Amino acid sequence: MDFKDVEKKEEESVLEKKEIVEKDFWRQKYHIQGIVGLINDPNGFSQFKGKYHMFYQWNPLGTIHKNKTWAHSVSDDLLHWERLGTALRPDTWYSKDGVYSGSAIVDDGKLYLFYTGNVKDCGGNRESYQCLAVSSDGENFERWEPSIVNQPDGYTRHIRDPKIWKKDGKFYAVIGIQSEDLEGKAVLYSSENIKDWKFEGEIAGANHGKLKDFGFMWECPDYFQLKDEKTGEIKDLLVFSPQGLEPEGDLYNNKYQTGYLFGKLDYEKPEFEISSDFVEIDRGHDFYAPQSMEDDKGRRIIVGWMGVPEEEDFPTVKNEWIHCLTLPRELKVINGRLYQLPIKEMESIRGEKIEFNEKVAGEVKVGTGTTYELKTKFSNFNSDFGLKLRTGKNSETVLKFDYNDKKFVLDRTKGEQPDKRLRKVYLGNISELELTVFVDNSSVEVFINSGQEVFSSRIFPEKGADGISVFANENASVKIEKWEWK
Ligand code: FRU
Repeated sequence: MDFKDVEKKEEESVLEKKEIVEKDFWRQKYHIQGIVGLINDPNGFSQFKGKYHMFYQWNPLGTIHKNKTWAHSVSDDLLHWERLGTALRPDTWYSKDGVYSGSAIVDDGKLYLFYTGNVKDCGGNRESYQCLAVSSDGENFERWEPSIVNQPDGYTRHIRDPKIWKKDGKFYAVIGIQSEDLEGKAVLYSSENIKDWKFEGEIAGANHGKLKDFGFMWECPDYFQLKDEKTGEIKDLLVFSPQGLEPEGDLYNNKYQTGYLFGKLDYEKPEFEISSDFVEIDRGHDFYAPQSMEDDKGRRIIVGWMGVPEEEDFPTVKNEWIHCLTLPRELKVINGRLYQLPIKEMESIRGEKIEFNEKVAGEVKVGTGTTYELKTKFSNFNSDFGLKLRTGKNSETVLKFDYNDKKFVLDRTKGEQPDKRLRKVYLGNISELELTVFVDNSSVEVFINSGQEVFSSRIFPEKGADGISVFANENASVKIEKWEWK
């Protein structure tokens, strides 16, 4: 495609497909999704002039991974998003085959986007450019010529997804990269003026330091610090999406993963000194390439793509769209452990409430709904128990505690989602289980025991599948509060 036609093609595609997309009952209510076509990674998540900005990878022309642009939405509350015009299109020589992922920073009253321009020639040779675009109004972006051209020595041209921050007057970026030995790594760059960048070195990677075989490529790295709310200690986190990990029991069962390491970034060496194991940030079927930002309330908020590359045989494709982002979550460290909590704003969309407080033996219907929040507390149990959501003739999503295995299980076998395997996490000996669940038209996000574990999965129930029930094989005390979303 001639890159000058990109905007016209986008308009035509939207016009042609919008109506079909809008009729789909799987369209989400409170999740960012493309108006047509495919979306993937969140990009440039930031706050500028009083508004939250979310950009995201968007192919306006179809439901495959091509023609990547940066779609752009703004919000006052992280839940109601207004779509603005496409911020970046593949209409420059250095991004002609895709404006790939990246991040944003506000500096000197301007919003800067730092992203990867992707170029592929007919022979499949790749060029990668790390580029800036700058805006004074948060809506129109002036694009600068590439700042970083291709890769440093010893690496392949798989270098992308810069995440930028500023420390002591200097800019830094961590970038995902592949070594010539075909191993995934993260490298650090620095800049005095945001335009000219210097390669500092490799800070982490597969077969680098503590991590042995750890994938052939690391995508979308993110680096930030959190203060432990109990001990006051400052913790550094490196979040990344490694590709190529093999499943190990309940771990790494999606095609590609996302997780984090605790450690300490030594800028001088440079090195991310790892002090923990790699932990998957989400245990569900659909979570990848998240991005975080700190807002003006001092919260570290993270949003992921509710999807995984190459696991995309979704039934919405026939309706000309695929994928959405997760709901925003707040990250906290408490006593050395990472928690993910629903943002406070979630309470503002609570509508009609029902409550349930009973001893359950067997299965009991507690209500109906397709878009809602549910808070549950289970206690006094001595066998399997849980919830069944979006139940209908051929659909149900089961959230259950497997009493013998001491595992929480998400079961979406009944429905139109392609991957029917279970997802599980070990919780150990517990005497209570608390769940906060957000159900949208085609997704479920489950926060377990104050956000110690989270599961995000897309679900595709049949039309009208809206039953909610609670079950216990023998006995359980159950408290439920459910709010229909406004
Ligand atoms: C992750 C990713 C990034 C890349 C973008 C392209 O899902 O592959 O590494 O920049 O998506 O859309």
